Amino acid sequence: MSDSASHNPLRTGLEEAQVAQPCTLVIFGGGGDLSRRKLLPAIYNQVIDGALPANFAVLGVAREELDDASYREFAREGIERFSRQSLDPRHWPDFERVLHFEQGAFDDADTYARLKKRLEEIEPAFGIPGNRVFYLAIPPALIETCVQHLNAAGLVQPVGVDVPFSRIIVEKPIGRDLQSARQVNNILGSNFDESQIFRIDHYLGKETVQNILAMRFGNSIFEPLWNAKHIDHVQITVAEEEGVGTRAGYYDRAGALRDMVQNHILQLLTLIAMEPPWAMKADVIRDHRQDVLNCMRPITPDTIDSSVVRAQYGPGFHHGEDVPGYRRESGVAQDSTTETYVALKVYVDNWRWAGVPFYIRTGKRMPKRVSEIAVYFKSVPPILFNADADHPLEPNVLALNIQPNEGLSLRIATKLPGPKVRIYPVKMDFRYGSTFGDQSPEAYERLLLDVMAGDATLFMRRDTVEASWMFIEDILESWGSSHTRWLPEYSAGTWGPLEADRLIESKRRKWRLL
Ligand code: BG6
Repeated sequence: MSDSASHNPLRTGLEEAQVAQPCTLVIFGGGGDLSRRKLLPAIYNQVIDGALPANFAVLGVAREELDDASYREFAREGIERFSRQSLDPRHWPDFERVLHFEQGAFDDADTYARLKKRLEEIEPAFGIPGNRVFYLAIPPALIETCVQHLNAAGLVQPVGVDVPFSRIIVEKPIGRDLQSARQVNNILGSNFDESQIFRIDHYLGKETVQNILAMRFGNSIFEPLWNAKHIDHVQITVAEEEGVGTRAGYYDRAGALRDMVQNHILQLLTLIAMEPPWAMKADVIRDHRQDVLNCMRPITPDTIDSSVVRAQYGPGFHHGEDVPGYRRESGVAQDSTTETYVALKVYVDNWRWAGVPFYIRTGKRMPKRVSEIAVYFKSVPPILFNADADHPLEPNVLALNIQPNEGLSLRIATKLPGPKVRIYPVKMDFRYGSTFGDQSPEAYERLLLDVMAGDATLFMRRDTVEASWMFIEDILESWGSSHTRWLPEYSAGTWGPLEADRLIESKRRKWRLL
């Protein structure tokens, strides 16, 4: 491991990560966009950082007409464009020799027979003891076919001591509602043991998201205040500048609630709200996250209007250019009622959080790309510096900046220098970039390594996926029964509809200006 990887100060005090084991990474959909933009660059960065085992190979499987040589070119192009560290010609020859490609259709048994043969050639050549990680970078509709063929071809090893491992990685979306999520989980569960299944939520792999636990439980000053007695409310914002882009086929059937809240944002919420885990062990952490989901107050038809706002972007501006509204985007139905923005007020009904609202907002075509969790502490009593009811003091806010300006800041009241007593809010700031220098590793880098090490801490367990859907499904059902033909609109390049401001506006609360 390189120095920067082994001396990450954020890891001090945490249990040492398990080590990535020699294996072949088989990427179904290896010729697709996820591979080109994320997976192959992630692998390349790990090689550069010396984090991967020496005995390692990649086998891409896809319909595209590629062979080993053209797959290496495909990888090179992706790495040149998307890698965190630029392509180093000195490393390239060593790197590209691990890349292989097998062309085939996912519903054809022959593909899996050839895949098996390829693995039996690659493994001895690279000294790999038969360990295999299958990455399903494929449309959800193909998961069942792929998993069943893998098993039928004898490519799935049962779990056992001293036998090579088989692990499978699946991407979101896991289903589009509770029932379909259960179906996917049943298919996975009847072919793999739960300990072999790694469901990716790439937000959990982000360095700043992992830092939530370090911040909460590595410092003594936060935990005593981390409860309903001292916290007024929490805001979670995940704003994107981009519109739907080329993904209308998927997105128009999903919408912001399914696409962002069901997975990424609920996971952020569980990390903020969970009880202190007693060990850095996968199932301990996951049990504690699960407890939060179990305590979430269901949103019912009676509370939906006061708890959820959805909206769609209309025409507006992006970097000074005119951009079309959602319904004019290519591939979107002209009468689509899919929400591109959603804001929610949710509660975690347990002793720690009783009565504390968590406000969530996420949307496409917002003024900027920013993800942040802001914890608003209660105001000081209305005496001394806070005695003027017309000019109350700004409360303390701890803001965790997930991206792009990674770090955290604490807003505190200070006295303005001078003879008069005037209070002014200032910010204490920590930025990853200026403190640690290097760019943080991409989420996929960390997550791939964890799968190779068999560490499931940052992955979604079956019960997590299903509990999240249960919460979301109540909202979907209320929406379904209201037969909306119209959604509030917000202009592209703005912070969402007025209705969302009303959702938060009580007790002087308002959305943070980002
Ligand atoms: C994906 C969603 O899961 O996350 C996309 O499907 C969204 O719609 C993306 O754009 C955001 O990820 P990130 O890492 O860019 O914040």
